[in-house]
Amino acid sequence: MSETPTIAQKAPYKVDVVEGKTYFWCACGKSANQPFCDGAHNDTEFQPVKYTAPADKTVFFCGCKASQTSPLCDGSHNAL
Ligand code: FES
Ligand code: FES
Repeated sequence: MSETPTIAQKAPYKVDVVEGKTYFWCACGKSANQPFCDGAHNDTEFQPVKYTAPADKTVFFCGCKASQTSPLCDGSHNAL
């Protein structure tokens, strides 16, 4: 049995990332600091997903936690 993540929002979070910087995306959906992990997953089976920015750019982190290409949005939120 696997847990279903909490939907933080049914839309991505637009973030300007910095080349070489590492981010930890919240996979559980419980963080109060979306889309990033704040440690709230400790009472869930989820672990944050590490993302290192390949360049300075704008990315869309998944907010619904259902993306198949997490931590980035793949449009799956449209089907929720
Ligand atoms: Fe959600 Fe850490 S708070 S993965
Ligand atoms: Fe989760 Fe788009 S916000 S797939």
